[in-house]
Amino acid sequence: MCGIVGYIGSKRAYPILIKGLSRLEYRGYDSAGVALLEDGKLNVFKRQGKVLDLTNFVADNPTSGTVGIGHTRWATHGLPNDINAHPHTSGDGSITLVHNGIIENYDILKKELIKRGHTFKSETDTEVLVHLIEDIKEKSGVSLAEAVRIALNEVHGAYAIVVISPEEPNKIIAAKKSSPLVIGMGEDEYYLASDATPIVEYTKNVVYLEDEQIAIIDRENGLRIISISNKEVSPYVQELEMQLEELEKGGYEHFMLKEIYEQPRAIHDSFRGRLNAKEGWVSLGGIKDYEDQIAKANRIIIIACGTSWHAALVAEYYFEDLARIPVEVEYASEFRYRNPIIRKDDVVIAISQSGETADTLAALKMAKERGATLLGIVNVVGSTISRVTDAGSYTHAGPEIGVASTKAFTTQLVLLAMMALSIGHKRGTIEDEKFQTLLDELEALPEKIEKLLKSDDYIREVSTIYKDAQNALYLGRGSSFPIALEGALKLKEISYIHAEGYPAAEMKHGPIALIDENMPVFVIATHGENYEKVVSNIQEVKARKGKLIAIVSKGDTMVREIADHVIEIPISDEFVVPILATIPFQLISYHIAVMRECNVDQPRNLAKSVTVE
Ligand code: F6R
Repeated sequence: MCGIVGYIGSKRAYPILIKGLSRLEYRGYDSAGVALLEDGKLNVFKRQGKVLDLTNFVADNPTSGTVGIGHTRWATHGLPNDINAHPHTSGDGSITLVHNGIIENYDILKKELIKRGHTFKSETDTEVLVHLIEDIKEKSGVSLAEAVRIALNEVHGAYAIVVISPEEPNKIIAAKKSSPLVIGMGEDEYYLASDATPIVEYTKNVVYLEDEQIAIIDRENGLRIISISNKEVSPYVQELEMQLEELEKGGYEHFMLKEIYEQPRAIHDSFRGRLNAKEGWVSLGGIKDYEDQIAKANRIIIIACGTSWHAALVAEYYFEDLARIPVEVEYASEFRYRNPIIRKDDVVIAISQSGETADTLAALKMAKERGATLLGIVNVVGSTISRVTDAGSYTHAGPEIGVASTKAFTTQLVLLAMMALSIGHKRGTIEDEKFQTLLDELEALPEKIEKLLKSDDYIREVSTIYKDAQNALYLGRGSSFPIALEGALKLKEISYIHAEGYPAAEMKHGPIALIDENMPVFVIATHGENYEKVVSNIQEVKARKGKLIAIVSKGDTMVREIADHVIEIPISDEFVVPILATIPFQLISYHIAVMRECNVDQPRNLAKSVTVE
């Protein structure tokens, strides 16, 4: 969602801001803008469309200032157009700001400001905030920072803001609540951004602003942080682990393809120091101190959204089967608006790639208020969810830039598998032999995925046949059912083909009515407990002339006779099949989306990090 950048220092701000905005493009946006302070003047440029449209628009205009802010907007209040794009400027042109989040009481504030003579140009909630700051500054004659502080005490909702003014040209004021903001500390220069990706090429030293904190950055006096209740806070400087190369396509046509191919390495990184099959152990350092509590938990509640929710559904099988602890999987967005029963001996696990998803964060906060122990399975190091949970483990997938989640999902699965194994072992609910087999199966995954990726040419050929489909069904049973959901989500989000995932046996209770010769049905039919049942389910598809594309275990003969196409995965225990079966589905959606000329890395209307509810 919206991306924010800012710079103050001795360099020209404009190229830094534009590069920063390009780095944030992956978050999803529909317009972009920058504001620069130049010779006591404020120059604001904003445009609907891509960052490239903005740079074309700016063209030869003056851009030599060394203080500036920038924004990519994902429309919430008001259409994506030039006027609603950020930065937004006060009525007298003396203050401008960029904002990520939603000011919930904007309507009441706007009405009051209108009564006091303010006029508005845009339909946004953000413009209300800048007018409010102007109003306070004018009335009370306070500094910009103080006006921002007072204004933030009046607003409800979520915000990450960066504010500049030609009246205080050597300052940047920033603040955050519920939306992320990172400050990069260079030598006598400061970078601000919604996440670390625009900052990492300049400095590795960063400060993550906490909720209700205001950063006052002064060219002379450096960084000072206060709370919105006006208490001094000492900045906590951390070092980024991110590498710049991780943010480049590295020769691949799209980030998504690169990230699919990175999975063997990403999974390997997830194992590092945590799993050793030869020595027969698995241990997650991040949750070590909480292992007893998890082992004794009355129940595990897993909250997540989208693809991360699918990982939670697989984890339900893992924890219930291996650790014999009851699990409930909840959409964070629904959980937070029910009145759920949460007890002190419940463990709540949040799964999130970005660590910033607003619904997941809000659900976590509610669980915390009700006394549950909170754990996080998060990819982005230092993200909000990783900080608000009691403990957790990073997936170590590295930055995921493609909007469609790929390597983040499979590393979530391996992490949850490790967690369930380790807790099950502790509780004595897994026999030693099975424990060892499953450790071996996990450790063999990177190599098996490497092999599977070698079928990519064949998978592309199969994809060609179905690229013009209007609908698709995905079927699976047991722990492969969530993979059917994930396969369907991947296809719809990047190729815009309508797709549904179903438990294979549920098909006859409704969706079978859709099947005809135009309906591709993707099914996971690997060897395991449900194999024969799935074979019967796919016979039902074939009898209705559906086109069958089956993921099967290597060497399978029975499904090969029925299906139109089979994609083999290496013979494996059912425990790791969800992880392996995910790969062909990722490749199918990728190839179909490319063939349909869709924007694979930035699908329409989607945002990588959903920071509004
Ligand atoms: C789909 C996808 C989304 C995210 C969802 C949650 O490919 O990426 O469905 O999984 O928005 O995001 P995180 O995991 O960052 O909380």
